[in-house]
Amino acid sequence: MSKPAVYPPSAEFVSKARVQGMEGYRALHEEAVNHPETFWGGVAEREIHWFEKWTKVVDWNPPDVKWFVGGKLNVSYNCLDRHLDTPRKNKAAILWEGEPGEQRAITYQELHRLVVRFASVLKSRGYKAGDRAIIYMPMIPEAVIAMLACTRLGVIHSVVFGGFSAEALKARIQDLGATAVITADGGYRRGKEIKLKPAVDEALLDCPDVRDCIVYRRTGSDTPMKEGRDNWWHTLDETASEDCPAVPLDSEHPLYVLYTSGTTGKPKGILHTTGGYLTYVTATMKWVFDLREEDTYWCSADIGWVTGHSYIVYGPLAAGATNVMYEGAPDYPAFDRWWRIVEKYKVSILYTSPTAIRALIRQGDQWPDAHDLSSLRLLGSVGEPINPAAWEWYHRVIGKGRCPIVDTWWQTETGGILIAPMPGAVPLKPGSGTLPMPGLVADIVDLNGFEVPPGKEGYLVLRRPWPSMARTIWGDPDRYKEQYWTKVPGAYFTGDAARCDEDGYYWILGRVDDVMNVSGHRLSTMEVESALVKHAAVAEAAVVGKPHEITGQAVCCFVTLKKGQHDHDALGKELRQWVAHEIGAFARPEEIRFTDALPKTRSGKIMRRLLREIVTNHTVAGDVTTLEDMSVITSLAAQQDED
Ligand code: WTA
Repeated sequence: MSKPAVYPPSAEFVSKARVQGMEGYRALHEEAVNHPETFWGGVAEREIHWFEKWTKVVDWNPPDVKWFVGGKLNVSYNCLDRHLDTPRKNKAAILWEGEPGEQRAITYQELHRLVVRFASVLKSRGYKAGDRAIIYMPMIPEAVIAMLACTRLGVIHSVVFGGFSAEALKARIQDLGATAVITADGGYRRGKEIKLKPAVDEALLDCPDVRDCIVYRRTGSDTPMKEGRDNWWHTLDETASEDCPAVPLDSEHPLYVLYTSGTTGKPKGILHTTGGYLTYVTATMKWVFDLREEDTYWCSADIGWVTGHSYIVYGPLAAGATNVMYEGAPDYPAFDRWWRIVEKYKVSILYTSPTAIRALIRQGDQWPDAHDLSSLRLLGSVGEPINPAAWEWYHRVIGKGRCPIVDTWWQTETGGILIAPMPGAVPLKPGSGTLPMPGLVADIVDLNGFEVPPGKEGYLVLRRPWPSMARTIWGDPDRYKEQYWTKVPGAYFTGDAARCDEDGYYWILGRVDDVMNVSGHRLSTMEVESALVKHAAVAEAAVVGKPHEITGQAVCCFVTLKKGQHDHDALGKELRQWVAHEIGAFARPEEIRFTDALPKTRSGKIMRRLLREIVTNHTVAGDVTTLEDMSVITSLAAQQDED
């Protein structure tokens, strides 16, 4: 393999950076590894306001962990109140643009006022610390306001991505035992209204414990309201109070639950708590994004994913950043919408996904080239491996060769960025997340837990606790232990394959389990399979991720049908639509292939590995000794050749 290109930070960037040069990085990392308690205690004290100080920095009894034991704080206080007696008071916290073009600039003081009012509404309706609320909203400031209002009272929130279907929403409401749902009539995407309230109505048919459904009027379209259960946000706001103090909460008080795909059909509710999470996301805002007071920061993720939680809401607001927030699609009304936004708001830090970058590359350089992107100084990438060609384009065409790219590896479970370059310190290699954050001890091991030599592929595990790590799976601690803590004894199992090069740089290769990554969204093969077999015509289904030029992976389904006459074309369309309805439009399969049989082991397990090989290499070269019926593979591979 040829040696990858290396891009050291420019002297100009280093001279102004928060962490300067490799000595700066190494000093932080070593201190954190050698003296974790003093290091993290110092970070928590500098970055966070505590109502009461902790008595112990970390209590580690794997996999159980507590950070800043006994400390009391409030997340909304840290994101809002404490900025109000500083010059940040009148600084824009959110610069929002709706897809149709409306703009709102919300200062920290105004955001505080809106959050307090909405928190007072929740409080007056009886919500208190420990209760659970679901937030199902478009990308509008009220989504942030709802999240912060929950944290003000200690109400545990779970944001459900607006692209999820009624079915998926219902499963999450039920699993969480939520009693409130906060939503909107709809939002805009590609010029059309995407309604949200009908999905809520459908979900709530089976959720008798939900007492309140609060609906923000975004689009103004016709929205039926159920008497006694549903209320308009603006109506409740009429009697809201501007006195609703932030409740001091224990450092380990649950902050939010975010559902993510695992290896079974049932999503996992990843639980994050308060003190450690907020400390870590605030610190990484500064280390990775090198955040400065005058930056205009834009993370293009949706608030429904962990990136939206940690790096649109909690990290940036706790750090006092100005956040750009955009409601709609990158290609509406034309392919330069993003570059218009960068130019208009003079965005200096842009954080996005490889899928978005690849989709924009395809449209040609004329779109970014038509805009002044000179305000940009730092670029970021998250959610999936970025291929070096996309990296180079991002660097050259968007960053004009001037902006470092921080490729950030992390997961819903890790709460914050774990492997990424500090941009004023670490020389970049396109495609590598580079080096671990301070105090993080990452290893590449085989399944017996033994380290593999540099350059060899293995499983990425993490050996030390970090403050923003997940605490458990909501309602299922055994699954949490089993899934993450038993595969390699004593270490956190990430589920990612990776290798480490001779410079200690990490290269993430992708998932080792049955989880697909479509446009940076995690989706389990089992979730799609269970949706398919619910359809009356389907006997059996096996789903794999297939390499895709833009989205990284695409959903490819192998389906066997029940006996009877079937019109394959029509049924293929119907099943794609069916999956979109069961899970959400983003899960819509790219391809449905009908087959008479699926490859199985002698014990009857579907061998997805072989199907993956078929869709990737168009043939099977791997081990097939446990395969029951070789003819299945031959016919599937032959079918591929006909395509
Ligand atoms: C993948 C998103 C390579 C990885 C923050 C991980 C990445 C999963 C990167 C988590 C990256 C995320 N390079 N792969 N920079 N970032 N991944 O929970 O497979 O939605 O395990 O969190 O995305 O996805 P999740």
